[in-house]
Amino acid sequence: MAQQQREQWGTRAGFLLAAIGSAIGLGNIWRFPYVAYDNGGGAFLIPYLVALLTAGIPLLILEYTIGHRFRGSPPAAYRKLARPAEAIGWWQVLICFVIAAYYAVIIAWAVRFVGFSIGLQWGDDPAGFLFGDFLQVAESPGPISGYVTGVAVPLIAVWVITLGVLALGVQKGIEWANKIFIPMLVVLFGILVVRALFLPGAATGLDALFSPDWSAITSGGVWVAAYGQIFFSLSVGFGIMVTYASYLRRRADMTGSALVAGFANSSFEILAGIGVFATLGFMAVSANIPVGEVVESGIGLAFVAFPQIISQMPLGAVFGVLFFGSLVVAGLSSLISIVQVVVAAVMDRTGLSRVPTVLGVGGAVAIASIVLFPSDQGLYLLDVADHFINQYGIALAALVLVIVVSWVVRALPGMQKHANATSAVPLGRWWRITLGVITPVVLGWMMIDSLIAEFRENYGGYETWVVASLGWGVAIGAIVIGIILSLVPWKRRGAEGDESDVLEEGAR
Ligand code: ALA
Repeated sequence: MAQQQREQWGTRAGFLLAAIGSAIGLGNIWRFPYVAYDNGGGAFLIPYLVALLTAGIPLLILEYTIGHRFRGSPPAAYRKLARPAEAIGWWQVLICFVIAAYYAVIIAWAVRFVGFSIGLQWGDDPAGFLFGDFLQVAESPGPISGYVTGVAVPLIAVWVITLGVLALGVQKGIEWANKIFIPMLVVLFGILVVRALFLPGAATGLDALFSPDWSAITSGGVWVAAYGQIFFSLSVGFGIMVTYASYLRRRADMTGSALVAGFANSSFEILAGIGVFATLGFMAVSANIPVGEVVESGIGLAFVAFPQIISQMPLGAVFGVLFFGSLVVAGLSSLISIVQVVVAAVMDRTGLSRVPTVLGVGGAVAIASIVLFPSDQGLYLLDVADHFINQYGIALAALVLVIVVSWVVRALPGMQKHANATSAVPLGRWWRITLGVITPVVLGWMMIDSLIAEFRENYGGYETWVVASLGWGVAIGAIVIGIILSLVPWKRRGAEGDESDVLEEGAR
């Protein structure tokens, strides 16, 4: 049967931009600043850099190498590593399904906030506006009893753009979109940071972010937070980088690309920290309160604290458009990469072509997202699913993957050889040690640490049924369905991924 030609990136720069576009997302702009602040400020940069070098970049190289070596999305690629490992691939596909469904909603909020910025429509009470007028959040978790069209309409637009880009393919869609998104983001965010640095009080904010609390680095929780941030932010553990690398040409520099993508992502992240804290400093100084009282975590930072500040600054509307516009652009390029994992997995394992797959499975993610999240329960769903799928999805799947690759299949030497054959920076023993020893130990510790916290107290103070159904239900459901999907005898119509590709013993 004729093999379908696998799509390819047009240029190395195109691949790098797409990888950087995937990495730079909502996690960089609002997650990093408050995680860094909460975990020792300037001192957090030490565990953060250690996490980047000992887990982030080594894992990025591993994902690139697996994708490039086996030319497949996670289920197809891991299957070639070892037949049962296909389940880890489907597990990652389901994680991407869940994340994409709610990630799109945050982008949709940001779209609306671009418009709200113009008339400072949140008035004097941005928190009341966000949770009440705009999201119409129910008093407590329960059955859905209201639907918010003000969220649904921009959400549909987000999905039309995302699926449209994906339907155009790797080169004409994803690569082309990132060539527009990344320069746009750099310009929007660059202007925002410069403006923020000239606000009165900016230095006070930066002082708060960068004043090191050295005692923090002796706390285990701070290290756990640093590794967690690196994973989410670099987009490792989702299977995205395996998928993107599967479209590389045969001769591709994997280690060099991982270093460029890793450092570009972290540089943007630190820039975002500077921009956000300079702005928070302005608020603290004008309200004459400590910076710590202005810092909010999660969505509160972007959608409550920022509107409050925007209302107080001169030309705040312009600042609001820049900030929420940056969130939209950064979010879209990440969302495209997350949905691409689901699309590529189904294409690889069924042999279906791109457009029907995008419409079918991409459409399924979009429908789940549009039906569930613009409801009065949307915020609860998002909050609980996000916590559990990050902790017991991304991080746990990454842990299982490194254990399988390093210790069960013992594929690291083969992968190292493969990467070194075409890469500029040769991988040494250090790479195998970081992946085989440091990453599993730290991730294992992270898992135990957060499990203890989980059983000590329900996440977010929610009732047990909420945590059990939306949290554990989703996280465990992804594992169970992943295993079931790996047992399905897929009919492959000329798709890549024949059994003959499974690595022979000794060929690793
Ligand atoms: N890496 C993406 C982000 O930072 C998912 O949001």
